[in-house]
Amino acid sequence: MLDPRAGHRPTIVYRPIRPSDLEVLEQIHAALFPVRYEREFFFNVVNGHGIISWAAVDISRPDGRNDELIGFVTMRIMPAKESEIEHLLRYNASRNDQILVYILTLGVVERYRNLGIATSLVQEVIKYSSSIPNCRAVYLHVIAYNQPAINFYKKMLFKLVRRLPKFYYIQGQHYDSYLFVYYVNGGQSPCSPLEIMAAVAAYFRGFFRMLSAKLWRNGEKNLPRWSKCKETSSLLVTQNKRFLGPENAKC
Ligand SMILES: CC(C)(COP(=O)(O)OP(=O)(O)OC[C@H]1O[C@@H](n2cnc3c(N)ncnc32)[C@H](O)[C@@H]1OP(=O)(O)O)[C@@H](O)C(=O)NCCC(=O)NCCS
Repeated sequence: MLDPRAGHRPTIVYRPIRPSDLEVLEQIHAALFPVRYEREFFFNVVNGHGIISWAAVDISRPDGRNDELIGFVTMRIMPAKESEIEHLLRYNASRNDQILVYILTLGVVERYRNLGIATSLVQEVIKYSSSIPNCRAVYLHVIAYNQPAINFYKKMLFKLVRRLPKFYYIQGQHYDSYLFVYYVNGGQSPCSPLEIMAAVAAYFRGFFRMLSAKLWRNGEKNLPRWSKCKETSSLLVTQNKRFLGPENAKC
């Protein structure tokens, strides 16, 4: 069996998925995922019908199967307004042209894992999404027990934004999923209610501190000399604390 980590140094090349990949694409999906995909899905992938994809092949395989898929990523473009993450985006909601990229499947054949192939495939997705000016994010779901994929997306700096209970129903059993988002072109997440409250509290804390310092300065002229020195040292302590005004109130 081919083992790229034992001797053979693979030369990985990335290309779009084509109709001739149909059979292998289907086989790899069946081997890697607990979810069964319809034939129509694979037809759509290989023919580029509403699905964008990239494949990884090893052009230096000693067995000559130089054009056989060893990794892939498939994705779909979604209008932001129709997606479940619309409320997680900070953008002008009156604009109807905002889009998102949803990763449908990502996989690498087992013997080619941990060689950076999925990293390169997802970097392609990010590069592609960033090149579309009205694209705001790349997002996807991962089943909650898939630790390699969770680690992988965290390493790729995707933000874990939500755990969705019972998102998947597979062979009579419910499974939670994690929702991961990678923001592009300024499509950051909006402030959460907690973050807004923290920012407002910080603003008022700063305001009252400034007010008390001002009142103290007005009164200091009337203080006896010894008292003035004592108060000055306590004022210095106050000034060393962080002052958060509205310009610091970032999320
Ligand atoms: C998840 C998957 C795509 C990663 O592919 P890969 O080509 O091996 O990934 P890369 O080599 O680019 O990245 C490796 C990173 O992924 C994570 N990772 C990969 N395998 C891991 C494992 N077994 N345990 C923990 N983390 C793992 C780590 O963060 C690792 O980085 P590190 O080596 O610095 O620790 C691959 O394991 C796979 O195909 N799994 C089955 C299908 C799947 O679960 N797809 C994702 C959900 S759609």
